[in-house]
Amino acid sequence: MMHDRIEEFNSRFSGLSIEEVIRSLTEAFPAQVKFSSAFGQEDQVITDIIFRNQLAVEVFTLDTGRLFQETYELMEKTRERYKQEITTYFPKAEDIEPMVSEKGFFSFYESVENRKECCYIRKVAPLKRALRDTKIWMTGLRAEQSDNRQHLDLFEWDEGNQVIKYNPILNWSYEAMLAYLAQHKVPYNTLHDKGFISIGCQPCTRAILPGEAPRAGRWWWESSQKECGLHEVTNKK
Ligand code: ADX
Ligand code: SF4
Repeated sequence: MMHDRIEEFNSRFSGLSIEEVIRSLTEAFPAQVKFSSAFGQEDQVITDIIFRNQLAVEVFTLDTGRLFQETYELMEKTRERYKQEITTYFPKAEDIEPMVSEKGFFSFYESVENRKECCYIRKVAPLKRALRDTKIWMTGLRAEQSDNRQHLDLFEWDEGNQVIKYNPILNWSYEAMLAYLAQHKVPYNTLHDKGFISIGCQPCTRAILPGEAPRAGRWWWESSQKECGLHEVTNKK
């Protein structure tokens, strides 16, 4: 059972470089290691490591249909820079059409329930499709991003998707991430120059002020909900 291997993975891979870990994983699980990119700063670091070293990891993104123009521009820039394919998953038309037809174009502002429904249809369900036949799901989660993420391990079991999650830059500081991006001249979202840190869908993301928490601009009108359901904390061993 993959589930039983979390502890082993966490100790076995703790001292290795990200590149070394990914190489071992792709050898052990050929074609079953995938990385989800939302084109955030964290994701761009990992994408650079994967593509520059030609690691056998599929890079995929979940296009919700509501992303910023700047994010789409970065997606295209990233494709051009590395000349690699980025697999794109869209929401299912049969799910999204009735939701928008019945509840309108901004239903997510009306209640937490509606917001979760939208996130489920546009992100969580496509993620489930993306992770079919996958053993290792790589993410750009960083511990510093939020309280919820502080107690995560490098490897976590995701019960809902039945995969091992690997969070390669979990313990990187914000400064280390920026240094990497600058050093390798990695393309980044121009919104970061305008006060945006964590960037999701356009109607659900705003810039943050100096001193605000990194994820304060996500679903800012909700008091405590700062997760969309992609990363449920159901994965304690
Ligand atoms: S979210 O849960 O609030 O949306 P966040 O934006 O912090 O997540 O991103 C954390 C990680 O989740 C990213 O590094 C990426 O691995 C994954 N992720 C989030 N949104 C997407 C997306 N639209 N497409 C692909 N991966 C995503
Ligand atoms: Fe819908 Fe907003 Fe969630 Fe995007 S972040 S899927 S627009 S509720």
